[in-house]
Amino acid sequence: KNIVILISGRGSNMQALVNARISGARIAAVISNRPDAYGLDWAKAQGIHTVTVDHTQYANRAEFDAALADAIDQFRPDLLILAGFMRILGAEFTQRYAGRLFNIHPSLLPAFPGLHTHQRAIDAGCKVAGCTVHFVTAELDHGPIVSQAVVPILNDDTAQSLAQRVLAAEHRIYPEAVSDFVQGHLRVEGMRVINTRLSD
Ligand code: GRF
Repeated sequence: KNIVILISGRGSNMQALVNARISGARIAAVISNRPDAYGLDWAKAQGIHTVTVDHTQYANRAEFDAALADAIDQFRPDLLILAGFMRILGAEFTQRYAGRLFNIHPSLLPAFPGLHTHQRAIDAGCKVAGCTVHFVTAELDHGPIVSQAVVPILNDDTAQSLAQRVLAAEHRIYPEAVSDFVQGHLRVEGMRVINTRLSD
């Protein structure tokens, strides 16, 4: 299966996905909306195709989304993966890739969609936090949940220390979720994702 990964910055989840050497998956390209994304240099050094579609060069979201889709489609992806991609995508875009678009979010959705999830979880007095891999739909951080991991929130946690613990879990569950998709283990029923690897 062909995989295209979208990033905006560091790209540590992208690195985890590449390093996992997922059987049956070929990372066809890494695309960034920011020309200075560190992850782009790393991907290039691995010999992976990289493309920049700079959002500042487009008049509005629709034009950016269209240019991004053009760049993506050249690689004929079976699965498109958001990995720290920090632009909101329009409904037309999410519709185009419906059922083959993944995101990872650093909270236990549906709690804490959006930004600053770690501070919000600490401030709310939560005892656990975590991360969620989900199919992307038009509503931000809201699609069918593929997998989640839970980590504890400790007494002396800061947003930073918690983010680090959650990130380690992200690097574990994202490659596993992608592998399950590639192996055909996932079936979407409304908001539920049935993983036949786990239930068979
Ligand atoms: C991760 O925490 C991811 O969940 C969130 O943004 C961060 C990206 O980190 N969407 P990286 O670029 O993968 O290192």
